[in-house]
Amino acid sequence: MGLILLATDLDDTLVGDDNSTQVFNGLVSRMRDQQKIKLVYITGRSPESYDQLKNERSLLEPDALVTAVGTEIFLDGKTKYDNWPMVAEWNSELIRHSLLNVPSLEEQPKTEQRQFKISYYLRNNQSSYELVKKILRHHPVDVVYSMGLYLDIVPRGVNKGSALRLLADRWHIEAEDIIACGDSANDISMLKRNKAIIVGNAKEELLRWALQAGNENIFLAKGFYAQGIIEGLAYYGV
Ligand code: GLC
Ligand code: MG
Repeated sequence: MGLILLATDLDDTLVGDDNSTQVFNGLVSRMRDQQKIKLVYITGRSPESYDQLKNERSLLEPDALVTAVGTEIFLDGKTKYDNWPMVAEWNSELIRHSLLNVPSLEEQPKTEQRQFKISYYLRNNQSSYELVKKILRHHPVDVVYSMGLYLDIVPRGVNKGSALRLLADRWHIEAEDIIACGDSANDISMLKRNKAIIVGNAKEELLRWALQAGNENIFLAKGFYAQGIIEGLAYYGV
């Protein structure tokens, strides 16, 4: 194995049990000292809300940070990469307006509304989700519904997976050396083409996807949160 790119979701994946997060930090720090690994956080949070979590949970400084479900990339954790995403057509006003009459859609706070991400709360409501997809079917967007609560609208093809690919390309790291870790539906795009670790506490929606995908590059950990990541790293021989 060459240089490993370890990409992990934060909420309910790296974060959830503080002891395991600290064990993970120790392990990854040692591997970074030996220049064996690059660590990337890929989260749905805004940069502000990420900063708060990072301080509260004593997270390591990552080699790169991806926020707002893949729509924002910070190359060293701080410097915003301006050429991302390359999107020709994105009209958030129009999108918002088209969805005004969808039942039970509730706008998330202003901090979570980003230049290329529109986010709502939608509580266990498959029919409203189907309606949103139907209304937006001619718009170049993707609709991601996770945990029966979060509904994100992003430019088509812009997601955790495509942001991760950009970083891997910049660092010349092949897919076989990329390990991605997650717990819910908005992680699927990055778990897809890489070596995947699904933590033991993963949501049903993700397990259902994993069963359908049925591929040997998906490791279903028994351990919860960061403990599951550590288990997965051992499985992949890291
Ligand atoms: C994070 C973000 C939220 C988003 C969710 C799912 O919780 O703060 O805006 O909807 O992730 O991607
Ligand atoms: Mg998560």
